Amino acid sequence: MINQNIIILGIESSCDDTSAAVLRDGVVLSNVIAGQKVHEAFGGVVPELASRAHQQNIIPVVDQALKQAGIEKKDLSAVAFTRGPGLLGSLLVGASFTKGFATALDIPMIEVNHLQAHVLAHFIKQDENDANQPQFPFLCLLVSGGNSQIILVRAWNQMEIIGQTIDDAAGEAFDKCAKVIGLPYPGGPVIDRLAQTGDPAIFRFNKPQIKGYDYSFSGLKTSFLYLLRDRLKEDPDFIEKNKADLCAGLQATIIEILMDKLRKASKDLNIKEIAVAGGVSANSGLRKAFEEHAQKYGWKIHIPPFAYTTDNAAMVAMCGHFKYLNQEFCPMDATPFSRTGV
Ligand code: KG4
Repeated sequence: MINQNIIILGIESSCDDTSAAVLRDGVVLSNVIAGQKVHEAFGGVVPELASRAHQQNIIPVVDQALKQAGIEKKDLSAVAFTRGPGLLGSLLVGASFTKGFATALDIPMIEVNHLQAHVLAHFIKQDENDANQPQFPFLCLLVSGGNSQIILVRAWNQMEIIGQTIDDAAGEAFDKCAKVIGLPYPGGPVIDRLAQTGDPAIFRFNKPQIKGYDYSFSGLKTSFLYLLRDRLKEDPDFIEKNKADLCAGLQATIIEILMDKLRKASKDLNIKEIAVAGGVSANSGLRKAFEEHAQKYGWKIHIPPFAYTTDNAAMVAMCGHFKYLNQEFCPMDATPFSRTGV
Protein backbone atom coordinates (compact mmCIF):
# COMPACT_ATOMS: atom_id res chain seq x y z
CA MET A 1 0.00 0.00 0.00
CA ILE A 2 1.26 3.49 -0.85
CA ASN A 3 1.65 5.54 2.28
CA GLN A 4 -0.13 8.82 1.56
CA ASN A 5 -0.23 10.07 5.13
CA ILE A 6 -3.84 11.23 4.91
CA ILE A 7 -4.98 11.76 8.49
CA ILE A 8 -8.72 12.21 9.02
CA LEU A 9 -10.51 13.09 12.24
CA GLY A 10 -14.06 11.70 12.19
CA ILE A 11 -16.93 13.06 14.32
CA GLU A 12 -20.18 11.14 14.91
CA SER A 13 -23.12 12.59 16.86
CA SER A 14 -26.23 11.48 14.98
CA CYS A 15 -28.08 9.81 17.85
CA ASP A 16 -26.97 8.99 21.41
CA ASP A 17 -23.28 8.19 20.99
CA THR A 18 -20.63 10.89 20.87
CA SER A 19 -17.65 9.52 19.00
CA ALA A 20 -14.36 10.74 17.56
CA ALA A 21 -11.79 8.70 15.64
CA VAL A 22 -8.52 9.19 13.83
CA LEU A 23 -7.58 7.22 10.70
CA ARG A 24 -4.26 7.39 8.87
CA ASP A 25 -4.53 6.12 5.27
CA GLY A 26 -7.62 4.15 6.28
CA VAL A 27 -5.89 2.50 9.27
CA VAL A 28 -7.64 3.16 12.57
CA LEU A 29 -5.46 4.89 15.16
CA SER A 30 -8.23 5.59 17.66
CA ASN A 31 -12.01 5.28 17.96
CA VAL A 32 -13.42 6.78 21.15
CA ILE A 33 -17.14 6.38 21.92
CA ALA A 34 -19.03 7.99 24.80
CA GLY A 35 -22.48 6.42 25.24
CA GLN A 36 -25.32 8.17 27.04
CA LYS A 37 -26.80 6.32 30.02
CA VAL A 38 -29.29 9.13 30.64
CA HIS A 39 -31.84 7.61 28.19
CA GLU A 40 -32.17 4.23 29.92
CA ALA A 41 -34.73 5.52 32.42
CA PHE A 42 -36.99 6.66 29.55
CA GLY A 43 -36.95 3.44 27.50
CA GLY A 44 -35.68 5.25 24.39
CA VAL A 45 -33.54 8.16 23.25
CA VAL A 46 -34.79 11.58 24.41
CA PRO A 47 -33.57 14.01 21.71
CA GLU A 48 -33.10 17.07 23.93
CA LEU A 49 -31.10 15.08 26.50
CA ALA A 50 -28.99 13.58 23.70
CA SER A 51 -28.05 17.04 22.38
CA ARG A 52 -27.06 18.20 25.85
CA ALA A 53 -24.92 15.13 26.46
CA HIS A 54 -23.18 15.59 23.08
CA GLN A 55 -22.34 19.17 24.12
CA GLN A 56 -20.70 17.89 27.28
CA ASN A 57 -18.89 14.99 25.62
CA ILE A 58 -17.62 16.29 22.34
CA ILE A 59 -14.49 18.16 23.45
CA PRO A 60 -13.18 15.46 25.83
CA VAL A 61 -13.96 12.73 23.27
CA VAL A 62 -12.06 14.51 20.47
CA ASP A 63 -9.20 15.25 22.86
CA GLN A 64 -8.97 11.60 23.85
CA ALA A 65 -9.15 10.39 20.23
CA LEU A 66 -6.22 12.63 19.25
CA LYS A 67 -4.19 11.59 22.31
CA GLN A 68 -4.81 7.86 21.79
CA ALA A 69 -3.83 8.21 18.14
CA GLY A 70 -0.67 10.13 19.06
CA ILE A 71 -1.66 12.79 16.53
CA GLU A 72 -1.38 16.56 16.95
CA LYS A 73 -4.14 18.81 15.60
CA LYS A 74 -1.70 20.37 13.13
CA ASP A 75 -1.11 16.93 11.54
CA LEU A 76 -4.76 16.49 10.49
CA SER A 77 -5.55 16.55 6.77
CA ALA A 78 -9.30 17.12 7.22
CA VAL A 79 -12.21 16.67 9.60
CA ALA A 80 -15.22 14.57 8.58
CA PHE A 81 -18.56 14.78 10.38
CA THR A 82 -21.95 13.07 10.16
CA ARG A 83 -24.29 15.51 8.43
CA GLY A 84 -27.32 13.17 8.58
CA PRO A 85 -29.62 11.38 8.85
CA GLY A 86 -30.17 11.50 12.58
CA LEU A 87 -31.56 13.68 15.36
CA LEU A 88 -31.23 17.28 14.30
CA GLY A 89 -30.17 18.65 17.69
CA SER A 90 -27.53 15.92 18.04
CA LEU A 91 -26.20 16.43 14.51
CA LEU A 92 -25.96 20.18 15.12
CA VAL A 93 -23.46 19.61 17.94
CA GLY A 94 -21.09 17.63 15.67
CA ALA A 95 -21.57 19.97 12.70
CA SER A 96 -21.00 23.13 14.74
CA PHE A 97 -17.96 21.65 16.46
CA THR A 98 -16.53 20.64 13.07
CA LYS A 99 -17.04 24.09 11.60
CA GLY A 100 -15.21 25.79 14.46
CA PHE A 101 -12.45 23.17 14.54
CA ALA A 102 -11.83 23.17 10.76
CA THR A 103 -11.83 26.97 10.61
CA ALA A 104 -9.39 27.29 13.50
CA LEU A 105 -7.00 24.77 11.92
CA ASP A 106 -7.61 25.94 8.35
CA ILE A 107 -8.29 22.40 7.13
CA PRO A 108 -11.12 21.14 4.88
CA MET A 109 -14.43 19.86 6.21
CA ILE A 110 -16.04 16.71 4.80
CA GLU A 111 -19.75 15.90 5.19
CA VAL A 112 -20.68 12.25 5.66
CA ASN A 113 -23.95 10.39 5.24
CA HIS A 114 -24.40 8.20 8.31
CA LEU A 115 -25.82 5.22 6.37
CA GLN A 116 -23.08 5.34 3.74
CA ALA A 117 -20.59 5.40 6.61
CA HIS A 118 -22.12 2.23 8.13
CA VAL A 119 -21.50 0.43 4.83
CA LEU A 120 -17.97 1.83 4.50
CA ALA A 121 -17.10 0.57 8.01
CA HIS A 122 -16.03 -2.57 6.13
CA PHE A 123 -13.06 -0.70 4.66
CA ILE A 124 -11.55 0.38 8.00
CA LYS A 125 -8.15 -1.27 8.34
CA GLN A 126 -6.97 -2.61 11.69
CA ASP A 127 -3.37 -2.31 10.53
CA GLU A 128 -1.46 -1.67 7.33
CA ASN A 129 -1.59 -5.35 6.29
CA ASP A 130 -5.35 -5.71 6.76
CA ALA A 131 -6.68 -6.74 3.32
CA ASN A 132 -10.05 -8.08 4.40
CA GLN A 133 -12.20 -5.50 2.61
CA PRO A 134 -15.18 -6.52 0.42
CA GLN A 135 -14.82 -6.59 -3.36
CA PHE A 136 -17.28 -4.58 -5.49
CA PRO A 137 -20.06 -5.24 -6.24
CA PHE A 138 -21.35 -6.51 -2.90
CA LEU A 139 -24.63 -6.60 -1.02
CA CYS A 140 -24.81 -5.02 2.41
CA LEU A 141 -27.58 -5.76 4.88
CA LEU A 142 -27.84 -2.58 6.96
CA VAL A 143 -29.78 -3.29 10.12
CA SER A 144 -30.03 -0.79 12.95
CA GLY A 145 -32.51 0.89 15.26
CA GLY A 146 -33.71 3.12 12.45
CA ASN A 147 -33.03 1.16 9.24
CA SER A 148 -33.37 -2.24 7.62
CA GLN A 149 -32.08 -2.11 4.09
CA ILE A 150 -30.42 -4.24 1.47
CA ILE A 151 -27.91 -2.07 -0.36
CA LEU A 152 -26.25 -2.93 -3.65
CA VAL A 153 -22.76 -1.43 -3.37
CA ARG A 154 -21.06 -0.97 -6.76
CA ALA A 155 -18.36 1.41 -5.51
CA TRP A 156 -17.69 3.40 -2.34
CA ASN A 157 -19.83 6.20 -3.78
CA GLN A 158 -22.31 4.11 -5.81
CA MET A 159 -24.88 2.59 -3.50
CA GLU A 160 -28.42 1.62 -4.38
CA ILE A 161 -31.05 0.69 -1.80
CA ILE A 162 -32.78 -2.29 -3.41
CA GLY A 163 -34.93 -3.20 -0.41
CA GLN A 164 -35.98 -1.52 2.80
CA THR A 165 -38.48 -1.73 5.61
CA ILE A 166 -41.93 -0.35 4.92
CA ASP A 167 -42.61 0.11 8.65
CA ASP A 168 -40.42 -0.73 11.67
CA ALA A 169 -36.68 -1.41 11.48
CA ALA A 170 -35.27 -4.73 12.73
CA GLY A 171 -33.66 -3.06 15.76
CA GLU A 172 -36.96 -1.35 16.52
CA ALA A 173 -38.71 -4.75 16.44
CA PHE A 174 -36.17 -6.08 18.96
CA ASP A 175 -36.49 -2.99 21.17
CA LYS A 176 -40.29 -2.71 21.08
CA CYS A 177 -40.89 -6.41 21.79
CA ALA A 178 -38.29 -6.27 24.57
CA LYS A 179 -40.16 -3.38 26.16
CA VAL A 180 -43.47 -5.29 26.32
CA ILE A 181 -41.82 -8.14 28.20
CA GLY A 182 -40.25 -5.72 30.66
CA LEU A 183 -36.65 -5.73 29.38
CA PRO A 184 -34.53 -2.57 29.61
CA TYR A 185 -33.67 -0.31 26.64
CA PRO A 186 -32.06 -1.05 24.25
CA GLY A 187 -33.67 -4.48 24.21
CA GLY A 188 -31.76 -5.99 21.27
CA PRO A 189 -28.63 -7.04 23.20
CA VAL A 190 -30.76 -8.34 26.13
CA ILE A 191 -32.94 -10.46 23.84
CA ASP A 192 -29.76 -11.78 22.21
CA ARG A 193 -28.39 -12.85 25.61
CA LEU A 194 -31.64 -14.45 26.82
CA ALA A 195 -32.24 -16.18 23.46
CA GLN A 196 -29.04 -18.16 23.95
CA THR A 197 -30.67 -20.15 26.75
CA GLY A 198 -34.08 -20.50 25.06
CA ASP A 199 -35.64 -22.85 22.52
CA PRO A 200 -36.51 -21.04 19.27
CA ALA A 201 -39.01 -23.75 18.23
CA ILE A 202 -41.53 -23.26 21.05
CA PHE A 203 -43.02 -19.91 19.97
CA ARG A 204 -43.23 -18.97 16.29
CA PHE A 205 -44.41 -15.61 14.99
CA ASN A 206 -45.84 -14.31 11.71
CA LYS A 207 -43.49 -13.65 8.83
CA PRO A 208 -44.60 -10.98 6.31
CA GLN A 209 -45.47 -11.74 2.69
CA ILE A 210 -44.03 -8.78 0.83
CA LYS A 211 -42.86 -8.64 -2.76
CA GLY A 212 -39.29 -7.88 -3.81
CA TYR A 213 -36.58 -7.20 -1.25
CA ASP A 214 -38.58 -4.99 1.11
CA TYR A 215 -39.06 -5.77 4.78
CA SER A 216 -41.86 -5.37 7.28
CA PHE A 217 -41.72 -5.99 11.02
CA SER A 218 -45.00 -4.53 12.25
CA GLY A 219 -46.92 -7.82 11.74
CA LEU A 220 -44.35 -9.68 13.80
CA LYS A 221 -44.73 -7.16 16.61
CA THR A 222 -48.52 -7.59 16.54
CA SER A 223 -48.23 -11.37 16.49
CA PHE A 224 -45.89 -11.18 19.51
CA LEU A 225 -48.36 -8.91 21.37
CA TYR A 226 -51.35 -11.17 20.59
CA LEU A 227 -49.55 -14.27 21.84
CA LEU A 228 -48.72 -12.49 25.12
CA ARG A 229 -52.26 -11.17 25.49
CA ASP A 230 -53.79 -14.65 25.00
CA ARG A 231 -51.33 -16.55 27.17
CA LEU A 232 -51.33 -14.00 30.00
CA LYS A 233 -55.09 -14.57 30.38
CA GLU A 234 -54.37 -18.22 31.21
CA ASP A 235 -51.27 -17.59 33.31
CA PRO A 236 -50.29 -14.16 34.72
CA ASP A 237 -46.68 -15.39 35.10
CA PHE A 238 -46.46 -16.51 31.48
CA ILE A 239 -43.78 -13.97 30.52
CA GLU A 240 -41.55 -14.67 33.52
CA LYS A 241 -41.77 -18.44 33.00
CA ASN A 242 -41.09 -18.30 29.25
CA LYS A 243 -38.79 -15.31 28.78
CA ALA A 244 -35.86 -17.17 27.24
CA ASP A 245 -38.04 -19.17 24.82
CA LEU A 246 -39.99 -16.03 23.81
CA CYS A 247 -36.69 -14.24 23.10
CA ALA A 248 -35.31 -17.20 21.16
CA GLY A 249 -38.47 -17.50 19.02
CA LEU A 250 -38.62 -13.76 18.36
CA GLN A 251 -34.93 -13.53 17.46
CA ALA A 252 -35.13 -16.58 15.17
CA THR A 253 -38.11 -15.06 13.31
CA ILE A 254 -36.41 -11.66 12.85
CA ILE A 255 -33.29 -13.40 11.51
CA GLU A 256 -35.32 -15.58 9.13
CA ILE A 257 -37.12 -12.50 7.77
CA LEU A 258 -33.78 -10.73 7.22
CA MET A 259 -32.01 -13.72 5.65
CA ASP A 260 -34.89 -14.78 3.34
CA LYS A 261 -34.76 -11.48 1.43
CA LEU A 262 -30.98 -11.29 1.47
CA ARG A 263 -30.74 -14.81 0.03
CA LYS A 264 -33.25 -13.88 -2.68
CA ALA A 265 -31.26 -10.75 -3.62
CA SER A 266 -28.01 -12.71 -3.69
CA LYS A 267 -29.54 -15.33 -5.97
CA ASP A 268 -31.30 -12.89 -8.33
CA LEU A 269 -28.27 -10.62 -8.72
CA ASN A 270 -25.75 -13.45 -8.59
CA ILE A 271 -23.67 -11.67 -5.94
CA LYS A 272 -22.02 -13.80 -3.28
CA GLU A 273 -19.99 -11.07 -1.60
CA ILE A 274 -22.28 -10.24 1.32
CA ALA A 275 -21.75 -7.78 4.17
CA VAL A 276 -23.71 -6.77 7.25
CA ALA A 277 -23.65 -3.43 9.06
CA GLY A 278 -25.49 -1.46 11.75
CA GLY A 279 -26.23 -2.11 15.42
CA VAL A 280 -28.23 -5.33 14.89
CA SER A 281 -25.22 -6.93 13.18
CA ALA A 282 -23.86 -7.41 16.71
CA ASN A 283 -26.56 -10.08 17.14
CA SER A 284 -25.01 -13.50 17.73
CA GLY A 285 -27.84 -15.37 15.97
CA LEU A 286 -27.56 -13.16 12.88
CA ARG A 287 -23.77 -13.65 12.80
CA LYS A 288 -24.31 -17.41 13.02
CA ALA A 289 -26.87 -17.28 10.18
CA PHE A 290 -24.31 -15.44 8.04
CA GLU A 291 -21.73 -18.13 8.74
CA GLU A 292 -24.22 -20.89 7.88
CA HIS A 293 -25.10 -19.15 4.61
CA ALA A 294 -21.40 -18.81 3.79
CA GLN A 295 -21.05 -22.59 4.17
CA LYS A 296 -24.24 -23.51 2.38
CA TYR A 297 -24.33 -20.98 -0.48
CA GLY A 298 -20.64 -20.18 -0.91
CA TRP A 299 -21.06 -16.59 0.27
CA LYS A 300 -17.96 -14.59 1.08
CA ILE A 301 -19.19 -12.81 4.18
CA HIS A 302 -18.02 -9.60 5.81
CA ILE A 303 -18.99 -9.03 9.44
CA PRO A 304 -17.36 -5.95 10.96
CA PRO A 305 -15.58 -6.04 14.31
CA PHE A 306 -18.00 -5.30 17.14
CA ALA A 307 -16.78 -1.71 17.65
CA TYR A 308 -17.72 -0.76 14.09
CA THR A 309 -21.23 -2.22 14.08
CA THR A 310 -22.93 0.39 16.28
CA ASP A 311 -22.52 4.13 15.81
CA ASN A 312 -18.85 5.08 15.73
CA ALA A 313 -16.65 7.78 14.25
CA ALA A 314 -14.12 5.42 12.62
CA MET A 315 -16.67 4.70 9.88
CA VAL A 316 -17.24 8.45 9.45
CA ALA A 317 -13.49 9.02 9.11
CA MET A 318 -13.35 6.11 6.61
CA CYS A 319 -15.96 7.76 4.41
CA GLY A 320 -14.03 11.01 4.91
CA HIS A 321 -10.87 9.29 3.67
CA PHE A 322 -12.55 8.23 0.39
CA LYS A 323 -13.98 11.71 -0.09
CA TYR A 324 -10.62 13.31 0.68
CA LEU A 325 -9.03 11.26 -2.11
CA ASN A 326 -11.74 12.67 -4.41
CA GLN A 327 -11.24 16.18 -2.98
CA GLU A 328 -14.94 16.27 -1.99
CA PHE A 329 -15.04 18.97 0.65
CA CYS A 330 -18.07 20.79 1.95
CA PRO A 331 -18.74 24.49 2.43
CA MET A 332 -19.24 26.30 5.74
CA ASP A 333 -22.99 26.60 5.17
CA ALA A 334 -23.56 22.79 5.15
CA THR A 335 -26.48 22.18 7.51
CA PRO A 336 -27.46 18.85 9.11
CA PHE A 337 -30.40 16.89 7.71
CA SER A 338 -32.57 14.48 9.68
CA ARG A 339 -33.89 12.10 7.03
CA THR A 340 -32.68 10.58 3.75
CA GLY A 341 -31.51 7.37 2.01
CA VAL A 342 -27.88 6.36 1.35
O1 KG4 B 1 -26.73 1.20 14.57
P1 KG4 B 1 -27.21 1.44 15.95
O2 KG4 B 1 -26.18 1.48 17.03
O3 KG4 B 1 -27.94 2.81 16.03
C1 KG4 B 1 -29.21 3.19 15.77
O4 KG4 B 1 -29.81 2.80 14.74
O5 KG4 B 1 -29.69 3.98 16.61
O6 KG4 B 1 -28.30 0.32 16.27
C2 KG4 B 1 -28.95 0.25 17.51
C3 KG4 B 1 -29.89 -0.93 17.44
C4 KG4 B 1 -30.84 -1.01 18.64
O7 KG4 B 1 -32.14 -1.24 18.14
C5 KG4 B 1 -30.32 -2.22 19.41
O8 KG4 B 1 -31.31 -2.89 20.14
C6 KG4 B 1 -29.78 -3.07 18.30
O9 KG4 B 1 -29.15 -2.16 17.42
N1 KG4 B 1 -28.80 -4.05 18.78
C7 KG4 B 1 -29.03 -5.38 18.77
C8 KG4 B 1 -27.88 -5.99 19.35
N2 KG4 B 1 -27.00 -5.01 19.69
C9 KG4 B 1 -27.58 -3.83 19.33
N3 KG4 B 1 -30.07 -6.08 18.34
C10 KG4 B 1 -30.02 -7.42 18.46
N4 KG4 B 1 -28.97 -8.08 19.01
C11 KG4 B 1 -27.89 -7.41 19.46
N5 KG4 B 1 -26.86 -8.08 20.00
